[in-house]
Amino acid sequence: MASSDDRRLSVSLVDVAAGHEAEFDALSTHFAAIVIRKEYGHVEMVRDEAVPLRFYAVRYWTDATAAERCHADPEVQALTARLYRVARVTHVVNGVARRDSGRLLDDRRAHAEGDRRSGFDRRVKNVGRADGERRKGDRRIGPRRLRERAEVDLVGAARRARENADAAYSHFKVGAALESGDGSVTTGCNIENATYGLTICAERVAMFKALSEGHRVFTRIAVVADTEAPTPPCGACRQILWEFGGNLEIELANLTESKGKHQLKDLLPLPFDARLL
Ligand code: THU
Repeated sequence: MASSDDRRLSVSLVDVAAGHEAEFDALSTHFAAIVIRKEYGHVEMVRDEAVPLRFYAVRYWTDATAAERCHADPEVQALTARLYRVARVTHVVNGVARRDSGRLLDDRRAHAEGDRRSGFDRRVKNVGRADGERRKGDRRIGPRRLRERAEVDLVGAARRARENADAAYSHFKVGAALESGDGSVTTGCNIENATYGLTICAERVAMFKALSEGHRVFTRIAVVADTEAPTPPCGACRQILWEFGGNLEIELANLTESKGKHQLKDLLPLPFDARLL
């Protein structure tokens, strides 16, 4: 079977939001023209006849460098940012990622690393989703769109949530605020218990609350404790956040200031998740 390494082929699944077909057509035509004009390769947009508004964006790269230049091209990045506003994009074949030969990855892990689907989507082997309705208003958004969006005061929300913490045993109160793909915020606080072991952390409370409200796409979480040194999520929370939220941005703060931002992938290297099952 031809590997994408030989052909330098990238494929993305594009689910266009209803009512935005015309804008999507214009964006994809513009993108295809840039790719040819700048000699990055060529693009084919294949319609999925079985699923309305689903397309496969197939990019045939001239070579790996051309693909990298295309990804770094500001004109392309601007178009991609606009695309993310009208479609949910799932990368299914990445023909340009280079394997890091210094790392000991078995085939299973290498496959998982190449699977750029995040959170929930990783649980599904077949990338088609029968229950597309489930997402409600949530849509995956990239870091660029995140920056364009009016900043939600996530840390403030986490500070307020912390007030509700029930930390009768440790007296260590924590608050968390989780932002969903649609911009809404779900908060959580730690809740302790006489058994100690049944304690649940603020981050998992926030995540489980959001999931139970139907949210499926997450972008950021803020975690607040009354400590000088930042309080990062515990191992169990990292695992749960990774499973459902993917590579979230995590902001750690105390009652007066932010103590920095991290990406979850850096806090949870070599993760175990559904791609490895
Ligand atoms: N805790 C959290 O809620 N989140 C964290 O990130 C770290 C720890 C809680 C669990 C327990 O109620 C208390 O803090 C002390 O460990």
